[in-house]
Amino acid sequence: KIVPVVLSGGVGSRLWPTSRALYPKQLLPLVSANGMLQETALRVADGDTFLPPLIVSNDEHRFVIAAQMQDVGIEPMAHILEPLGRNTAPAAAVAAEFIRQEEGGEAILLVLPADHHIGDLDAFRRAVHHGARLAGEGHLVTFGIVPAAPETGYGYIRRGESADEEGGYKVEAFVEKPDSATAASYLADGGYYWNAGIFMFRADRILEEMETFCPDICEKARAALGVSQRDLDFIRLDKAAFEACPSDSIDYAVMEHTRHAAVVPVDMKWNDIGSWSALWEIGEKDEDGNVHLGDVINVDSRNTYVRAEKGLVATLGVEDLVVVETGDVVMVAARDRVQDVKKIVQRLAEEG
Ligand code: GDD
Ligand code: MG
Repeated sequence: KIVPVVLSGGVGSRLWPTSRALYPKQLLPLVSANGMLQETALRVADGDTFLPPLIVSNDEHRFVIAAQMQDVGIEPMAHILEPLGRNTAPAAAVAAEFIRQEEGGEAILLVLPADHHIGDLDAFRRAVHHGARLAGEGHLVTFGIVPAAPETGYGYIRRGESADEEGGYKVEAFVEKPDSATAASYLADGGYYWNAGIFMFRADRILEEMETFCPDICEKARAALGVSQRDLDFIRLDKAAFEACPSDSIDYAVMEHTRHAAVVPVDMKWNDIGSWSALWEIGEKDEDGNVHLGDVINVDSRNTYVRAEKGLVATLGVEDLVVVETGDVVMVAARDRVQDVKKIVQRLAEEG
């Protein structure tokens, strides 16, 4: 069986003002009535294929997450609590070491971001079964999405020779977050995928690769787990040990260096819900291309995303806007500028 590892550590600052530090985007019902972390756990709730999920999150979200899991009837294998965020490489290292101890080194991890939307579940499941076969052979498996634009927020995977009879490939190169000129050249080249941010590998294999390419992260993460405190399902990592761990993403720390990566191309209506425009893209639109939630009145507006959480929002004759109202905040943004919403959050932090 496969162990799902759900990483819930992002702050989702591009989805401000709805996403806040105490309630980041993965804990919010942005896409459906469930939160995205709940949707993620439900996606792998099939007991024939998966063990219960291992959750890795910040300590301060433990009760919200525990309540959300209970709400959807999921009892995690365990819930590892980080005293502070150290990005995804340490989180993955801790998860792999925990699973190696509990289930053995050959256990296969399916590392899932807690904040993605997947529209085609059958395609997702087929890809996971395919990935499990490649991971079982020792590969670090990535999932490749056909790139739609030269986005700079993704990893790019250059496919190499065929890895199996089923359409999997070896990874020739992995480039995390290239600049836009480089990304454009990859699209023109055609041999590249976006990295979906979902990974599969055996616990022993990812730990071996980490020992090679980021030994410090591997060692400090193991130390933090070694002296962790357990209460109920919670495993609280040691603060001093985890603080001493370098902060890096699994993409930079491992995927750009390993020579044993494979890619499973998959078309699963994947969207990483990075910004408000993603919610407009996947949302249900009226005949004028508007996505409206809550109490909204629209007169002659087009292609807007309007989210009224507490009050009434009315628009008249505007186009391509994002308006989000949360009771204490109203944010109005050009739809093609919402990648920069995090600049508002930065400004707020600076001004206290
Ligand atoms: N537990 C934990 N601790 N989780 C974390 C931490 C942390 O310190 N930091 C991030 N995460 C979680 C996030 O909540 C998210 O679910 C996932 O790990 C990925 O982190 P992001 O910060 O969202 O990564 P990214 O979007 O910049 O890039 C990754 O995903 C892209 C696809 O969405 C990379 O894998 C890219 O290569 C990929 O294209
Ligand atoms: Mg992300």
